This record gives sequence, C-alpha cells and structure tokens, in this order.
Amino acid sequence: MNDEMRRRAGEAWAFRARVERDAERRFARLSAAISAFDPDSPVPGLLRRAAEDEHRHAGLCAELSLSYGQPIDGLTDDPMIAPRSLGPRQAVLYEVVAACCITETESVSTLATLLAAEVEPPVERVLREIARDEVVHGRIGWAHLAREAALHDVSFLSAWIPSMLSGTVDDGLFSGADAESETETDELLRHGVLPHSRKRETFVRTLEEVVFPGLEKFDIDAAPARGWLAARRSS
Ligand SMILES: [Fe+2]
Ligand SMILES: [Fe+2]
Repeated sequence: MNDEMRRRAGEAWAFRARVERDAERRFARLSAAISAFDPDSPVPGLLRRAAEDEHRHAGLCAELSLSYGQPIDGLTDDPMIAPRSLGPRQAVLYEVVAACCITETESVSTLATLLAAEVEPPVERVLREIARDEVVHGRIGWAHLAREAALHDVSFLSAWIPSMLSGTVDDGLFSGADAESETETDELLRHGVLPHSRKRETFVRTLEEVVFPGLEKFDIDAAPARGWLAARRSS
C-alpha cells in the first residue's frame, strides 16, 4: 500500500480509537446519572459493561492505527452534549439517544458495510469484535428510550434530532466529490476505511431504515430530522 493510503488508514483507526475512548467515558457518566433517578433500571449496569467494551475497542483501534504508523494522542474532555435548556433527566435522554440510538446504530451499519468487503485478516478480527458489542450498545439506547417513554412524554426529542445528527457527522460528509478511484476504494475497504461515497450512502440508509422508524415508534416525529437530511442531500 502506498504512503497516502497508509496514512489514511492510520488516521481512520486513530480517529476510531478516540471515538471509542469518548464513548467509554460518556457511558460511565450516563450510567451513574441514570442510576441516580432510575435505580431499578437495568440500563446503568448495561452501560457500565458497554464502557468496558469501549475501553477494549479503543485499545484494539489504537493497536491497528499504530500498525499503520499513526500514534494516538492524549485524552480530550468529556463534554455533555445536551442543550442547556433541557432538564437533567431530559439531558440524559438526549445523550443516550444521540450516543446509542444514533451513533451506535450508525456504527453497526458502518462495520457491516466494511465486513461485507474483502478485509485484511487483522482488520477483520477487530471489526468483528467491535461489531458484536456495538449491536448491544445500540439496543441499550432503545431500551432506555422505551423506559422513559413509558413514564414521560418524549416527543420533545423530535426538535432535537437534527442537532444530534449535526453532532454525529463530519462536515464533509454531504459535500465534496467522491475523490476515490475504484482501486483506492478497494484498498481503503481492505484496511477498514469506508470511502466517502459509501460513508454517505450507509449513513443515509441507516437513518431512513432504522433510526427514523425507531424514533417514530415512540411518537417522536422524525419530520424535522427528515428535513435536515433532505436539505443536506440536495446541497
Ligand atoms: Fe466501540
Ligand atoms: Fe459502542
């Protein structure tokens, strides 16, 4: 593989290692927050286990990124991503929906897309191990949402889904041409990197087929989120 492809693979795995580490801390914090207001919920225990999974994933991703010559930088902070206008319990729900129902669900699709391609054995092992856990992490989000929806009106989330989505995607996802040639696309996939066009395709399909219908089951109107998506796809 040439230097440019090696660099892209290294950066992609280093980025993933950071995302995993962020998820570890977020899940640990959310676990404590939920047990304070809902001590009978199974969710805090599941989130604690998820935090341990993310710790392991971060290590696996860091090892791979190093194997491509890319070291991992230091820890960043653990920002609460919910808007300040929300009460504490609503803020937790916002974070759980953003981190689990959206991000983890998207992650499962990304991993499945990568695993459908021909992947180098060491990369495949890591992808499989992570994919197995992320499926569970997505379900934790839906379980918490179901629990909250049974007690409170959760329709306020509808207006916030666009900002969750904006926080999930990197700026270039909907802009920029698909720069990769077919050969480069195959090579990136082999090293566990989703090329630009596939990334956008996978993101959109997952929203339309899994995330939006999932939210609508809890009477969270997905129209603002669909509008957000339509605006980006036409730009
Ligand atoms: Fe993970
Ligand atoms: Fe996860």
